[in-house]
Amino acid sequence: MRKQLKRFIDQMEPNSIAIIPAAHEATRSYDTEYKFRQDSDFMYLTGFPEPDAVAVIDPRSKKPFTLYVRPRDLEMETWFGRREGVEGAVKNYKADKSQPIEKFASDLAKLLDGHDILYYRFALDKPLDRLILRYLSNQRMRRLKTAYPPHTIIDPTVIIGDMRLHKTPDEVELMQKAATISAEAHILAMKKTKPGMNEFQVESLIEAYMREQGASGVAYNSIIGGGDNATILHYVENNRPLKDGDLLLIDAGAEYQGYAADITRTFPINGNFTPAQREVYDIVLDVQEKCIDYTKTGNTVKGRQEYSIELLTEGMKKLGLLKGKTEDLIKKKAYMKYYMHGVGHYLGMDVHDAGRYFTDQTAKNSRPFAPGMVLTVEPGLYIPPDDRSAPAKYRGIGIRIEDDVLVTKDGNLNLTAKVPKDPDEIEALMQTKSRRAGR
Ligand code: GLY
Ligand code: MN
Ligand code: MN
Repeated sequence: MRKQLKRFIDQMEPNSIAIIPAAHEATRSYDTEYKFRQDSDFMYLTGFPEPDAVAVIDPRSKKPFTLYVRPRDLEMETWFGRREGVEGAVKNYKADKSQPIEKFASDLAKLLDGHDILYYRFALDKPLDRLILRYLSNQRMRRLKTAYPPHTIIDPTVIIGDMRLHKTPDEVELMQKAATISAEAHILAMKKTKPGMNEFQVESLIEAYMREQGASGVAYNSIIGGGDNATILHYVENNRPLKDGDLLLIDAGAEYQGYAADITRTFPINGNFTPAQREVYDIVLDVQEKCIDYTKTGNTVKGRQEYSIELLTEGMKKLGLLKGKTEDLIKKKAYMKYYMHGVGHYLGMDVHDAGRYFTDQTAKNSRPFAPGMVLTVEPGLYIPPDDRSAPAKYRGIGIRIEDDVLVTKDGNLNLTAKVPKDPDEIEALMQTKSRRAGR
């Protein structure tokens, strides 16, 4: 059995059972599908990569791990790809037992009856929800007879989220790989970007490099925003020409063996920052470096957010974007006009990864950083192009700098440190021979 599954079982309540579904394929249009991406929790526990499977985990059974899977089917496999089938599920994925998925519905009562607690996450998989609700309703009706349905239902992500939040050394290795591929892709983009190119050409450079290095693809849709497109937080059209004198914001990360990287860099399209761009850039960079230092054991997620707000509010005052006492500006949330997102998030299999941000029910006590957590650090300043209250020279400038940081025992490790962010270093990199030769 996979280590993760064993650790999950160790944390399950006595006399409980868990049902964890795989993802399904999703229609893109008519009869074509999006590229399949396995559900992260299911992948984490089972490692099984196919759609339409269900894991049943019953710790008190001699064979605790049953995988219901798509059975082998030569015709289907000829059209749509190989399947492990029940044999492969046991042989290659260490299931104690495997059954064709078609049997799952009729097995449900046999599987669940006699357990006090069911671990199941409702509202992810509607057809499976219906099946489980129908089972519960039927068996509750039959309670005077022989049925004994679980009386308590627990969301398994309470356990799985916490496990996923604290990365094992094996996971860190995969995350470092995702981070390195992504970092190199960003470096490539810095070297190759020139005025007159289109955003989609930079997108293609970055994504081709990631794939070429063995990433399954991007961990989220790349944001390639030239000029004031950088002030649109989730700009993904990526189809405008890149102008001489503008900045380019790239937020792009690879997914490698199920793990995400998430990097943002902002650099001048022609290789040289204007003085105004550099003024804003220096402030964001200083805040980013301070917030990276802050991301260590003992500090909290919420503390870091407040710290970033304080520093950026000071920075906005320095630039003349805000006027007044820092304390009042923070109280009024004046900074929201130019800094409207969080300073970072957990990173792992999902780009916005699993795990709770609070340690209590009131959502007041923020979680302290602990070794093994990976978080992004991504402050930004976005000055709308039509913001008449901002000094004219800053209008339309959007800057974010984002790295991926692993909390360690005595500090932290920046997994994405390889991509330059010092403005002088960026300018030096962009003056490389290959760029001057126009290659
Ligand atoms: N790329 C998504 C994020 O930075 O959160
Ligand atoms: Mn991020
Ligand atoms: Mn990002």
